[in-house]
Amino acid sequence: MLTQEIIRIKRDGGEIDPADIAGFVRGLTDGSVTEGQVAALAMAIFFHGMSRNEAVALTLAMRDSGEVLTWPELDRPVVDKHSTGGVGDNVSLMLAPIAAACGLAVPMISGRGLGHTGGTLDKMESIPGYQAMPNNNLFRKVVGSVGCAIIGQTGNLAPADKRFYGIRDVTATVESVPLITASILSKKLAAGLGALVLDVKCGNGAFMDSPERARELARSLVEVAVGAGMPTTALVTDMSQPLASAAGNAVEVKNAAEFLTGAARDSRLQEVTLALAAEMLVSGCLVADADEGLARALRALEDGRAAEIFNKMVFELGGPADFLADPDRHLGAAPLTVACTAGREGYVTGYDTRGVGLCVVALGGGRTKPGDPVDHVVGLTGLLPVGTRVEKDTPLALVHARDEDQATAAREQLRKAVFIGDAPPTIPAVILGRQD
Ligand code: URA
Repeated sequence: MLTQEIIRIKRDGGEIDPADIAGFVRGLTDGSVTEGQVAALAMAIFFHGMSRNEAVALTLAMRDSGEVLTWPELDRPVVDKHSTGGVGDNVSLMLAPIAAACGLAVPMISGRGLGHTGGTLDKMESIPGYQAMPNNNLFRKVVGSVGCAIIGQTGNLAPADKRFYGIRDVTATVESVPLITASILSKKLAAGLGALVLDVKCGNGAFMDSPERARELARSLVEVAVGAGMPTTALVTDMSQPLASAAGNAVEVKNAAEFLTGAARDSRLQEVTLALAAEMLVSGCLVADADEGLARALRALEDGRAAEIFNKMVFELGGPADFLADPDRHLGAAPLTVACTAGREGYVTGYDTRGVGLCVVALGGGRTKPGDPVDHVVGLTGLLPVGTRVEKDTPLALVHARDEDQATAAREQLRKAVFIGDAPPTIPAVILGRQD
């Protein structure tokens, strides 16, 4: 069918045939469908949505637009997690080695930060020598020998999504549930996973700021993934405050290192990480239920196996052999560390979580457009959980900055992003729901 006829069907609220969706995606990949046509269809989908059948067809066609990995050499279940993104969300760094220590294979293909949210890939690149974009042979070797590898997406996986996302980004059509669904799942399906667990973030630091929207996205992701043949479950988790007490790149890696070695563990971060690990173990059929999964995951963390696997993964991918023995030495530090004090007494009652993320971006730790470099050493540490009692001079966080001007600006920005009130607030739950 002519591309303009496909656009017309969706413009008028109709349903596009799967074969025509596949044809459109072929044109998207080989460039024969113009940017204007892609934008027009994206806008029509934005307004009219897609049926589940259409979303499954779009997801499968985008999966098949490039290489689709398979893992015949592995004798373990291949399971991964995807997060819709947030602030202080370094879960992947602990989750991949915990899951691997429990017997899963985790080929974790992650993304870079964009906007106010951080990216796992940028965080891992804080480690000197770490090859976040290894060739296929090294990637497969590390997944096989270590059990997990956290790497970046190669251009060959779901290339249709790369072009589609770029056009959606500049045409205000990113925030469409079926388009987000197809974009996320096409890449995960191309990675050859046996099962997937999703962490759908909800709150003012997330893509989806209301529970209704987060649940809608979770439902769409799970139903389309299952429709495309990949067993998938989702947890909806709170992103109305930073999840870890650190936000940035090297500072989040340090936070993950402390979590893995047991030196310090943020409690909300631990709850989300272990709950996702339990979901992954259930999906991989290694445990009978989430309770057994939780106990297994906690054991792998407590007895040091997860830390050992993380260290091994870092080494096998080009980083130092002794990373976890002294992460500070390897990660380096920002030239300046200053406290941002509360300025009044009371309780931390809430966050403008997006504002915290933007503070990291302003420090240079995030990017405002794809391809920008990031400064790995800047960021925030010591962020306080909602409910913490503060005095006037209690630090709300430590700002790690390049210079005095940056530090002053970040302090002002952070003060506006942390809300302090007189009465202790209700503490929001961290796991808000589950979708299967
Ligand atoms: N993340 C993706 O990979 N794709 C989207 O469309 C949105 C978030």
